Amino acid sequence: MSPAGHLLSPTSSLPPLRSLITLNKEQIFSAIDNLYELYCPVSLPRAVKSQLEHGKARDDLLVQPADSGYVSEDDIDSEYDLDELRADAFERNFAIRWLTTLIANAEELPLSDEDEREREQTVDKASFILASFTKLADEDDEDDSGITRDFSFELSLFSNQGSPRLKESSVREKVSIDVRLNDAPQTTTDHTDVGLQSWGASIVFSDLLCSSPGRLELSRETLGSSPRIIELGAGTGLVSLVLAKALPHFGVSDATLIATDYHPAVLENLQSNIELNRASVETCFLDWSAPILEAPLDLLADMLVATDVVYAPEHAMWLRNCATRLLAPKGVFWLLMTIRPNGRFEAVIDSVEAAFNGSYSKTSDNRHLAILNMEGVEKRRGVGRGDESGYKLFRIGWT
Ligand SMILES: C[S@@+](CC[C@H](N)C(=O)[O-])C[C@H]1O[C@@H](n2cnc3c(N)ncnc32)[C@H](O)[C@@H]1O
Repeated sequence: MSPAGHLLSPTSSLPPLRSLITLNKEQIFSAIDNLYELYCPVSLPRAVKSQLEHGKARDDLLVQPADSGYVSEDDIDSEYDLDELRADAFERNFAIRWLTTLIANAEELPLSDEDEREREQTVDKASFILASFTKLADEDDEDDSGITRDFSFELSLFSNQGSPRLKESSVREKVSIDVRLNDAPQTTTDHTDVGLQSWGASIVFSDLLCSSPGRLELSRETLGSSPRIIELGAGTGLVSLVLAKALPHFGVSDATLIATDYHPAVLENLQSNIELNRASVETCFLDWSAPILEAPLDLLADMLVATDVVYAPEHAMWLRNCATRLLAPKGVFWLLMTIRPNGRFEAVIDSVEAAFNGSYSKTSDNRHLAILNMEGVEKRRGVGRGDESGYKLFRIGWT
């Protein structure tokens, strides 16, 4: 149960509908009640808003969904304002997909035959919420039919940009790096198309590379003017797109950027995002488990980058093997891993350290990839899903 006065966003609170039978009816009802309170305009603006404005107890008024069993209390974003949440098109589209799936699979709801009336009520309520979205869209006078997301990161440029040891005091100029992305809906039948959405780690990494480029050694001095950069498991391509837009500001004018993934639908969405941003990024199929290093992957990379790509026990080892074949002798592999301390992802928390611990076979010249540095990166408010507690940033290179 969330503490009083806090809201849960749909992405962090709705239980997955992939296997309805694993949920209990309380979880379903609680999730629907949450959406109802959140989105149905009759109950919120009139009853809640005016009272909030008059300083009445928030506890009675704000949504307090029951624990869905899918998220922990860490999910709670206490600063997430109700209006902001309601206006968030991504959250809304997530809720729409969830409700549509629920209605389509109503027959599988974990209810007994005697509960037929409850099933009808559930579908009615879900339909009512869906109908209210149309009304909200009209009110907001905005086109919510797509799920386009706009990202804007502030790039810090430094007077001593050429040096890898940049100091805060030398900030010279701020430039806005804007990226527009299509976060396509995930299908309910294919569990492998997770790359159709931008994950918290890609947003955090993009922010980091803009706000602290020195931390990621992004300068002309370290990269040269024409580095080769390959992103592994690029998903929607946010990181590659931000790099493509930011690097010229560091004097890195002629970078080759290749965003790779293995999922056909993800690659298609990635390509359309690149076109949407008119960015100079190539896309390429690359499966870490069986890498085929044909052009454009036939030349070594000066930098590899990957965000939120370790979510199964075998991933870290596949990535290590892949990086071993792709990284140039002086290259660096930046890997931002998402920490999900609860549930099935617990098993992968130390898998990067284990994969790069040096006991695996070395190259013919007796070298191997190792973690040169690791630092924790805090979760940002309003970024990422509820089960994420933070991130680990690995700097990996040859030793
Ligand atoms: C959780 S998503 C993260 C996507 C993106 N990096 C981000 O942070 O938003 C994981 C990505 O890794 C890709 N992926 C998973 N297994 C892969 C494999 N064996 N080879 C290549 N890509 C893979 C998925 O298609 C997906 O795009």
